[in-house]
Amino acid sequence: MDGKFVEVSNLKKYFHVGKRQILKAVDDVSFSIERGSTLGLVGESGCGKTTVGRHLCRIYEPDEGAIRIDGRDISHISQRQCRELAKKVQMIFQDPYASLNSFFTVGEIIGEAFTIHKMFRSVKERRDRIRELLEIVGLSAEHANRFPHEFSGGQRQRIGIARALALSPELIVCDEAISALDVSIQAQIVNMLIEFQRTMNLTYLFIAHDLSMVRHIADDTAVMYLGALVEYGATDAVYGHPAHPYTKGLLSAVPTPDPVYERSHRRIVMEGEVSDPINPEPGCRFYARCREAEKLCGEVAPPLKKIGGNHMVACHACKEKEGERST
Ligand SMILES: Nc1ncnc2c1ncn2[C@@H]1O[C@H](COP(=O)(O)OP(=O)(O)O)[C@@H](O)[C@H]1O
Ligand SMILES: [Mg+2]
Repeated sequence: MDGKFVEVSNLKKYFHVGKRQILKAVDDVSFSIERGSTLGLVGESGCGKTTVGRHLCRIYEPDEGAIRIDGRDISHISQRQCRELAKKVQMIFQDPYASLNSFFTVGEIIGEAFTIHKMFRSVKERRDRIRELLEIVGLSAEHANRFPHEFSGGQRQRIGIARALALSPELIVCDEAISALDVSIQAQIVNMLIEFQRTMNLTYLFIAHDLSMVRHIADDTAVMYLGALVEYGATDAVYGHPAHPYTKGLLSAVPTPDPVYERSHRRIVMEGEVSDPINPEPGCRFYARCREAEKLCGEVAPPLKKIGGNHMVACHACKEKEGERST
């Protein structure tokens, strides 16, 4: 074992829907994250990102495959062990409106984990820690007695982050944590997360359907399409030299701050709908939408193959290009 902090190997999660139908939400996904670094997980809505993230917190138990955190296999641990895992792994959610209980004060929300884990017997110690957490995320101690609806979206997400930090976790799954926020607020939250990573040596799985912020925070990026990774590698490589037609399409949709480039740049419009994750066709899952598809692509699913360094892509067409390059 190479000692990566997070190691997910061949993860599969199938949901049974309706009569004898199987929805392959996550179908053989593998990745790893080094301690103190960030993996960005990107892809359109419904591709399985949240399902992957929930496995790291053991909200879901895998059907197949293994999840190792800090060297320990957590794939099939007990309920009690899952509670213990919460001290190590926490999640921040997309919707800061829905994810905070509106009947609790901010202090109660942040301190809930202390009650569950029977921490801070003294009221003062507990209150001090809640105040400290509020200040860490840029709020103030007085906010502890207020209710979530009194805060803006960005402030609520700060409360969600304070809650996630309460037990001093080592890994945080940020599930579309900034997607619901205005762009200017997104940058503030991302910069704060980057700062916390540095000072607390946190490891992140940063899930997003919008690619623009991922580039700033993620060391590595994994692109997911219908339950599988189609491209994976160092963020600079994936963004600088995208290889999979799907990644190229996603990136082409990201607006740049350069108006000259924007005027001259033609977007790759991805046609067609995302195929159905229920009983998928054989072959590449992107086949129906792919501009570069060949006959083989409709018949055989391409495996992830290395195209240089740790840059990997699952595409028959890209493999041919690699062949050309190496001859
Ligand atoms: N508990 C569940 N039961 C049945 N289907 C589910 C469940 N959770 C997610 N799905 C389905 O699995 C697929 C992946 O969902 P999800 O992981 O939420 O995707 P994403 O986070 O990328 O939008 C979707 O088709 C979704 O409808
Ligand atoms: Mg999701």
